[in-house]
Amino acid sequence: MDSPKKYTEANRIAWNEAMPLHQKANQSKWDDRFSTPGYSVIEAPELEQLRSLKLEGKSVAHLCCNNGVELMSIKNMGAGECVGFDISDIAIEEAQARAKKFGIDCRFMRTDVYDIPDQFNHQFDVVYISIGCLGWLPDLKAFFEKVSSLLRSSGMLFIYESHPFSEMLPSDDLKDADPLKIIDPYFKSEPYVELDGIDYVGKTNYKSEPQYWFVWTLSDIITSIINNDMKLIHFSEYREDISTMHRRTEEQKADIPLSYILIAEKEQDTH
Ligand SMILES: C[S@@+](CC[C@H](N)C(=O)[O-])C[C@H]1O[C@@H](n2cnc3c(N)ncnc32)[C@H](O)[C@@H]1O
Repeated sequence: MDSPKKYTEANRIAWNEAMPLHQKANQSKWDDRFSTPGYSVIEAPELEQLRSLKLEGKSVAHLCCNNGVELMSIKNMGAGECVGFDISDIAIEEAQARAKKFGIDCRFMRTDVYDIPDQFNHQFDVVYISIGCLGWLPDLKAFFEKVSSLLRSSGMLFIYESHPFSEMLPSDDLKDADPLKIIDPYFKSEPYVELDGIDYVGKTNYKSEPQYWFVWTLSDIITSIINNDMKLIHFSEYREDISTMHRRTEEQKADIPLSYILIAEKEQDTH
């Protein structure tokens, strides 16, 4: 495979291209919502599972945090030190500006997740990953190695993601396709090279700079976690589409998995 930088840098450019469109559609909505003290965007079923981590006062890292609205919500739920990391310059600028505007004490750093500086090692009680992160990452093993290094002993990894099963089904863009018919592979070693824009917020159609999307199976994800000193303590699957790309499938009420929550605990440091 090519160097991971080839992919992450292309994805950075594509995300910088998309963010102004997301902002055009959503910026004032988020500003209105965060003007209410204590606002949180986090809902069931994620809310219940996040509460099980007893976030009060805990340090949280959000990887692939985009414009920071989830991390600011977690801060508003009572978390301690909160740091968000994202590769998109424009997403991070938006997150920093909103946190400052509403006095929400979160830090945001623009970086490729693979390059998060070592100064953050062992600094976090919780590493949080949500909706649409893992597919952008070319090397899952190296990613979970980084996650593990960020966690303190007995710290928690929390993932709320689209279910890999949904990768096989047509996205809503393919309007004429049967939303329950398997059209793509589950096992796929090469990334998809996408040229369609990623304005799933404002729904503008445009030809984008190339972006790379990686299909990770459940076993890729679970094995990479347990091989990096974390043990699985919770896994639940849901019928709800959280990607906004498979709404037509969800509407079929076919009882198939479209999202999941995984919680893993960093093993205690015995050194
Ligand atoms: C779909 S968003 C997910 C964010 C969040 N859950 C949300 O719904 O807004 C994906 C984010 O991953 C970021 N990203 C992609 N590759 C990355 C990388 N290698 N390092 C850090 N962030 C990355 C993108 O810039 C983008 O902001």
